[in-house]
Amino acid sequence: MAESIYLSSCNKLAKVSIIGAGNVGRTLSQRLIERNLADVCLLDIVEGLPQGIALDLTEAQGLQSHHCEIMGTNNYVDTKDSDIVVITAGVARKPGMSRDDLLKINAKIVTEATQKSLYYSPNAIYLIVTNPLDVMTYLVWKTSDLPYDRVMGMAGVLDSARLETFIAFELGVSIHDVQGMVLGGHGDLMLPIPRYCTVSGIPITELLSPETIDKLIQRTRDGGAEIVRLLKTGSAYFAPASSACYMIESILFNQSRLLTAAAYVQGEYGLNDLFLGVPCRVGSNGVEQILEIKLTTEEREILQRSARSVRDSIDIALSFL
Ligand code: APR
Repeated sequence: MAESIYLSSCNKLAKVSIIGAGNVGRTLSQRLIERNLADVCLLDIVEGLPQGIALDLTEAQGLQSHHCEIMGTNNYVDTKDSDIVVITAGVARKPGMSRDDLLKINAKIVTEATQKSLYYSPNAIYLIVTNPLDVMTYLVWKTSDLPYDRVMGMAGVLDSARLETFIAFELGVSIHDVQGMVLGGHGDLMLPIPRYCTVSGIPITELLSPETIDKLIQRTRDGGAEIVRLLKTGSAYFAPASSACYMIESILFNQSRLLTAAAYVQGEYGLNDLFLGVPCRVGSNGVEQILEIKLTTEEREILQRSARSVRDSIDIALSFL
């Protein structure tokens, strides 16, 4: 079990506020406290919901033997002085709702949540989970005065985790030996890079046929949809919560993990002024470095296409604000 991180000499635990007490928010809360990573403030617009979840989780504290606190609230004042703010608030796309409708609703929810959180936690690192991820992450940065390296989006870790799972299934090897690499936007235009995906250091291009790799990549692209189809209501939340937790751990413990995050690009990969999934070193200062790895011409084109699609959605979202 991870040790707790104490941020000051007065033995105060790190504080993570999670905006949105839906499936992802509550699962992430559970992961954080049960692993003794941080105290959690869980906020939702629905009265009673975050309080009920917090009480339920607190009643399990003795049984789970952890010493972190969780509070549920509808009031942003309780998020004061957070070290990290995670934004999961939003609505899911419902039948009959266009992509633009979703964009409009979530843009409003996310920018309001940012303004209110920012007032009480101006120095926090902001981790965005609400979809469409790359666009929402941009809006958080654009509508705040936050430095770009203190804002990041969670998607690449999740997409990589999904690809790793399918590689492990296919080869019958332990997931612990598999390392995936997925760049680009969180969506149809994500960019898995097989030659950088390895099993104990061996590129999967040495272990699997191109046809099998294509099949695994397609399943990764459809990863979210596959779960939505099976669940029938709602979308994935266990792996998304674990992915956010993984990033939070790297920040709180200054682990400098090299992972894919939606980060602000300024010329890297020939891209500018947007947030997109790129390999980043993540530590206590947020996104501390973006690594520029060699891409083929075809991969660069896919990344450019992914960036154009994110840019178009950003422009639409900005027009709603
Ligand atoms: N302020 C605070 N909370 C809000 C607001 C708001 N303005 N608007 C909605 N919420 C809350 C809802 O009340 C709900 O509890 O956000 C929560 C969203 O939870 P779910 O619908 O269960 O969604 P979840 O599965 O948690 O996913 C959250 O993560 O992976 C992405 O696509 C997913 O955008 C979605 C987000």
